[in-house]
Amino acid sequence: MINKPANIQLDEHGRLKHFLSIEGLSREIINQILDTAAGFAGVNDKAIKKVPLLRGKTVANLFFETSTRTRTTFELAAKRLSADVLNINMNTSSTSKGETLLDTLRNLEAMQCDMFVVRHQDSGAAHFIAENVAPHVNIINAGDGRHSHPTQAMLDMFTIRHFKGDFEKLRIAIVGDISHSRVARSQVHALSTLGAREIRLVSPKTLLPAEMASFGVEVFHDFDAALDGVDVIIMLRLQKERMRGALLPSADEYYARYGLTTERLALAADDAIVMHPGPTNRGVEIEGIVADGHRSVILQQVTFGIAVRMAVMSIAISATEQSSARSSHS
Ligand code: NCD
Repeated sequence: MINKPANIQLDEHGRLKHFLSIEGLSREIINQILDTAAGFAGVNDKAIKKVPLLRGKTVANLFFETSTRTRTTFELAAKRLSADVLNINMNTSSTSKGETLLDTLRNLEAMQCDMFVVRHQDSGAAHFIAENVAPHVNIINAGDGRHSHPTQAMLDMFTIRHFKGDFEKLRIAIVGDISHSRVARSQVHALSTLGAREIRLVSPKTLLPAEMASFGVEVFHDFDAALDGVDVIIMLRLQKERMRGALLPSADEYYARYGLTTERLALAADDAIVMHPGPTNRGVEIEGIVADGHRSVILQQVTFGIAVRMAVMSIAISATEQSSARSSHS
């Protein structure tokens, strides 16, 4: 008999059924996502960018928080897998008329949707939905509060692997507003599971939560010192919409200490790459010329995001299909 794993993301055979966070996933599953995405990156380079893996399936994008690139790349990923896609703006849907989230979900289930891609301002929302959804529906977390943004972290890992190869050789700096960043949290889990040589978190003291220091990372408050020998620099947006109170010095002071400028980039390894999950704020955390420069892979991250999301969706759907094939034969 197989014991049901405590991790709600996995089915009873240890396959990825929901994609809610990187925490708790094995290196094997993370590599399965990266390897599957490498296959889909080839599809995205073809004249006809479609494969039939999700034909006949319906994917509903449930975005309670605004998003451009994440929602759009999820939509393109689902369409390139031949799924039908519903985009539901939850800010104008019935939940804003007082219907509970669970009632909205029951209605979408009644329309025979197969997968919900969820973005929500509250940490834990995707997990709550996964716990309450019908067994045949897959949940993909597209960002919940400051908790987790697992597909962003996976597309970042894909980008790093593509440009830099073996994680065990790499020094990676994650810079900026770590406190409010679901992206940074997911990246730290992914990088440590993949065995990165060094993870450096760089931020003002007010924007670095104490618990992050226990994740096997090195903490720096001096950006220049942190850049010595780094292979990958990941810049984060200042998440002002999530800040309460005065956590920041003035914008000029922040840029002077934590902005990635051309002069600062020269302190990193000669072939270091520059990443950012977007949206970028030029002149706030990154100089425009650096964001557009030849070391920047920011737009490649967006392109790879489609292949990575195709990988996650197809892996999750195939876990559910294998389970239902097994139960219909028993
Ligand atoms: C990130 C997010 O929403 O958490 N962006 C994204 O998904 N591309 C980062 C951010 O908003 O700064």
